[in-house]
Order: sequence, then C-alpha cells, then structure tokens
Amino acid sequence: MRVAIYFGTTSGSTLHVAEMIRDALQPMSVDLLDVATLDNAHSMTDYDLLIWGAPTWGYGDLQDDWEDFIDHLDDVDLSGLPVALFGLGDQYGYGEVFVDAMRILHDKAQARGARILGYWPIDEHYDFEHSLAVIDDHFCGLALDEDNQSEFTDARVATWCRQLQAVVFP
Ligand SMILES: Cc1cc2nc3c(=O)[nH]c(=O)nc-3n(C[C@H](O)[C@H](O)[C@H](O)COP(=O)(O)O)c2cc1C
Repeated sequence: MRVAIYFGTTSGSTLHVAEMIRDALQPMSVDLLDVATLDNAHSMTDYDLLIWGAPTWGYGDLQDDWEDFIDHLDDVDLSGLPVALFGLGDQYGYGEVFVDAMRILHDKAQARGARILGYWPIDEHYDFEHSLAVIDDHFCGLALDEDNQSEFTDARVATWCRQLQAVVFP
C-alpha cells in the first residue's frame, strides 16, 4: 500500500501534523510531499491512498501553495482513488470560517472522482460558529486547531489514523 501526504504550509504547523500522521500510520510507509515543491500532480496516481492537508488562511481561503497547485488536480484522473483530508485552523480567531479550506479540497477531490475517506465527528471540545467543512454534521476531514487545542491533536490524529487504516485494510 503506497500512501502519500500532500500538504501546504505557511508557518509550519501543517508539516508538523503531516509528520504526526505519517508516524501514526506506521508500519505503512508514507511519503510527504509539500505542494510548494511540485509543478504538477502526476505523482498522485502512483499511490493507493492520498492524504491532503491544508491550513485555512486569509478569511476562509486556501493556503497560498495549495492555491497555486489546485488547478493541477484537473490534469489527473483520481477516479476511485481514496483521498482523506486534514485541515488546520483557528476556531477562536476565525470561528465563522473554521477550517473552511478543507471544504475546497473536498469538493475538488469529489469533482475529480475520488473516494473520500476520513469524515470526522464534531466532538464536544470543538468551539466554533460555522465551518464550510461541515457536511451532514461531520467535518469532511480531520479538523485540527494547533493554535488553541494542540493538547487534543495527538489523540485526534491517532483515532483518525486508526479509522483510516480500518477502512483501507478492512
Ligand atoms: C492571517 C491569518 C489568517 C487565518 N485565517 C484563518 C481562517 O480563515 N480560518 C481558520 O480556521 N484559521 C485561520 N487561520 C489560522 C491558521 O489556519 C492556523 O494558524 C494554522 O495552524 C496555520 O497552519 P500553517 O502553520 O501550516 O500555515 C489564520 C491565521 C492567520 C495568521
């Protein structure tokens, strides 16, 4: 099973979480790819499971490197490919647009025919007003808040990765 995490980061937190997810998915071997270093998305079809990670910047916007990269996804056939998402945000500072960028990636993955995994329940610790990343009472991927709730990140990552592995290896 070949797994890759494609991530973008502006201040480093999403890379940190990508490394946590890679470690939590052991013994699966996981490649980490920073979308800032890529000028196309062709490598995506080399993998059996894709994980896309993005923080939300601006006001509900995609992080800059993802913004530059996202159109490359129109050049690859993701039909049936499993894609799981994780997103970082700040629910106290940006509680009306918490992790909105995850929804942008979700909709792109869906439009490209991917099979989206890793929907995530909204547990009682989250404290935000609104998020476009919520679909049918679930986040459309793992929502993390390193700014305010980093103490939950380890457990959230561990649980999400276990759930992902259970789906990928039923
Ligand atoms: C100027 C600025 C704008 C931000 N906009 C949002 C936002 O719209 N929604 C959100 O949930 N978080 C927002 N955040 C929080 C970041 O997503 C959060 O700090 C994230 O962990 C950064 O990830 P990175 O270090 O990988 O770039 C913003 C942070 C800053 C400094």
